[in-house]
Amino acid sequence: MSEPLTIEQVPVGDSSPEGGVVEVWTINRPGKLNALNSNVVAALKEACSAAESNDGVRVVVIRGAPPPEAAEGERGKPPAFVAGADITEFVGKGSDDIRGDFEDNAWEAIWNLTIPTIASIDGFALGGGAEIALSCDIRIATVRSKLGTPEINLGLIPGGGGTQRLSRLLGYGKALEMVLTGDMVDASEAHRIGLVNHLCAPDELDAMTMALAQNLGSKSPHTIKAAKRAVRAALERPLAEGIEYERAEFCALFDTEDKEIGVNAFLARERPEWQGR
Ligand code: COA
Repeated sequence: MSEPLTIEQVPVGDSSPEGGVVEVWTINRPGKLNALNSNVVAALKEACSAAESNDGVRVVVIRGAPPPEAAEGERGKPPAFVAGADITEFVGKGSDDIRGDFEDNAWEAIWNLTIPTIASIDGFALGGGAEIALSCDIRIATVRSKLGTPEINLGLIPGGGGTQRLSRLLGYGKALEMVLTGDMVDASEAHRIGLVNHLCAPDELDAMTMALAQNLGSKSPHTIKAAKRAVRAALERPLAEGIEYERAEFCALFDTEDKEIGVNAFLARERPEWQGR
């Protein structure tokens, strides 16, 4: 049986401190449109704790494995980021069977990563798959992608944070429409409403994703975490408290080596050699 999640480490170019990598996580069930079964979920949670405890990991990219080649005379599978939670695992289950899995889940594990995350989407990102994308910081999608929360058609609602993160990202009205109708949103509409940050052709996705990942990976790893915490605070705090929180993070950075390195490199017209502290 193939690995449910494959992890590739790509060195961050021109980065210091040495050894920084972009981790590319590929959800690997293309025959089932990369649907999230319990093996994939367990592997994602494990990858999150490993990445979080490894100082070298600067950025995480999450993608779906491309479809397998169709056998002759057979209908091929469509490309998918993730077509949702594995519906076969829902059959016959009651709330007591499912609650534990949804309390300790991969969506929160990804959301709680302190390093930046990018969802690199080609094809369907539905249900739990859309929620994986929503748990990432930045979404890049190919023009043939479709995103949606079709759980309503199964007699369900999103259970991986989708109602909450969609509302915060798109606003109440659009989020509610998506959740109530279960209709898919095509890539250009997703881009228009801010559900994805960038659109590209399928053959440009890997390069565009990696260029963005390398960009994020080239910043001070210490500062980039502070930046993520500060913007995230806007989701959780009233404005005045959030501004206070930002100020505290900003001032604390004045005690770091990387602030001195960054400021002096700018003045000397040199590339900063970050120390990560
Ligand atoms: N869970 C389990 N299996 C899934 C799945 C899911 N969420 N999504 C797709 N699959 C499986 C299909 O059962 C099929 O398996 P098979 O070839 O062994 O029969 C395979 O993936 C290909 O999917 P298929 O439905 O044949 O592809 P399609 O091109 O006709 O349709 C979709 C693509 C995405 C429209 C359709 O698969 C779909 O609606 N999937 C479910 C989406 C959903 O409701 N997600 C929310 C779950 S909470």
